[in-house]
Amino acid sequence: MRIGVLASGGGSNLQAILRAELPVVAVVVDRPCGATAVAAAAGVPSTVVARGPDRLAFTHEVVDALAGHDVDVVVMAGFMTILDKPLFDAYDGRVLNTHPSLLPAFRGAHAVADALAAGVKVTGCTVHVATLEVDSGPILAQEPVPVLDGDTVESLHERIKAVEHRLYPETITRFVS
Ligand code: GRF
Repeated sequence: MRIGVLASGGGSNLQAILRAELPVVAVVVDRPCGATAVAAAAGVPSTVVARGPDRLAFTHEVVDALAGHDVDVVVMAGFMTILDKPLFDAYDGRVLNTHPSLLPAFRGAHAVADALAAGVKVTGCTVHVATLEVDSGPILAQEPVPVLDGDTVESLHERIKAVEHRLYPETITRFVS
């Protein structure tokens, strides 16, 4: 089983996945970011595929980068560019994502801020099979995280990430086996 991870940010979920000794063979990022350094420290090759105006061309480049490492399963770990149909054709049912809310609530790139603004008392994270429709697809695991008085987007997101760091590797392990 060969896993390719897509990331755009600090790479803390990538770090957790590597710590769980999941077979990550490649990392693809859409910008220079912390995940590149996390990959390098673990000796995993990473490729930067810069996001351009053409989403289809971008998606083909990402698929090519993954195919170049014979990837079987694609794990999105904070990847912030929407990917088009070629990814889901190439890896049908084999693209996973973690999202910082209890889907279907608070889809999109600002899930933590949106939950805070809505005044909910509980949010959380969701691990799901990714499909062409963003932040949709079969849910594999969810866990609630309470919103505390005085929470900021940063403090709430950090507590959600702490849960993701356990839940995502556990769920990927179950999925690949
Ligand atoms: C995670 O909370 C993920 O759910 C969201 O972006 C964050 C990525 O964090 N889409 P990191 O780059 O893994 O630290």
